[in-house]
Amino acid sequence: MEIPCSRWYEAIWIRRSRRQFDPRQLDQYALEGLGVVCKSFRPFEGVRAVLVDNAPDAVFKGIISNYGKIKGAPAFIAFMGNMEDPNVHEKLGYTGEGIVLEATALNLGTCWVGVSFNAELASHLAHIEKQEKILAITPVGYTREKWSLEERIMTGFGMTHKRKPLEKLLVKGRDASWPLWVKTALEAARVAPSAINRQPWRFTTGENSITISVDSLKDTLNISKRLDCGIAMLHIELASLHCGNKGGWEFLAPPHVARFKVNKKNRGYQI
Ligand SMILES: Cc1cc2nc3c(=O)[nH]c(=O)nc-3n(C[C@H](O)[C@H](O)[C@H](O)COP(=O)(O)O)c2cc1C
Repeated sequence: MEIPCSRWYEAIWIRRSRRQFDPRQLDQYALEGLGVVCKSFRPFEGVRAVLVDNAPDAVFKGIISNYGKIKGAPAFIAFMGNMEDPNVHEKLGYTGEGIVLEATALNLGTCWVGVSFNAELASHLAHIEKQEKILAITPVGYTREKWSLEERIMTGFGMTHKRKPLEKLLVKGRDASWPLWVKTALEAARVAPSAINRQPWRFTTGENSITISVDSLKDTLNISKRLDCGIAMLHIELASLHCGNKGGWEFLAPPHVARFKVNKKNRGYQI
């Protein structure tokens, strides 16, 4: 499937993690839209997403930090991968974020959940294969435009959405000669979601490229930082496409994750 660039690029800026849902079932339009994207957005072998349209609340277990329990979601999407693939985490982050952004574009609430879910129940409901593991899920459903007090408290009145300044994420600092696509891509990557908002990505810019690395090889909460970086990878690519530049990814050995290079033949307005 072709990436719906402007639809997902716009969704980057409005997506927020939501944890309280209106329990009404998803309508046909939403179900079809999500079903299609789960089946068709398969940019990498070995990772996939499955929509489960009847989510018992028991799938969302306990709490992570002080976020509280996820409540009322009528459906969830399981993100699963073949654990023999050395790049499974970043591939799944990239793929899952496409689906999260499509849900956002469909006006649905989501929340990446890497820890506080019942893996056994989710694996059963999503029918995983032998070599697969669910690395994260997201609830999907309708949310109130106005946040409840409980949800505002859970997110520290917006603190969990706060991001580090770009300077803290750059390995070599800002460069006055960055083309527009680099500036746009770094801003889009900066607002990507990450587990406990740890923002583990570090960026190195090169001629026509951005390399993502992790800040350290130590993972927290048993969630790979490479999963967060996979999410940021999609944001970088969407921003680059938004600026008219196609490019491609090369996976790298730790502590690096991947390098995005724009094609030389691009006709983007600023490369
Ligand atoms: C890989 C991953 C795992 C996450 N796991 C959980 C989780 O288990 N429970 C939860 O409530 N939030 C979880 N989150 C949501 C983050 O806390 C949230 O994305 C972050 O605080 C940034 O806030 P925002 O999504 O509103 O921008 C996870 C996010 C990511 C990307």
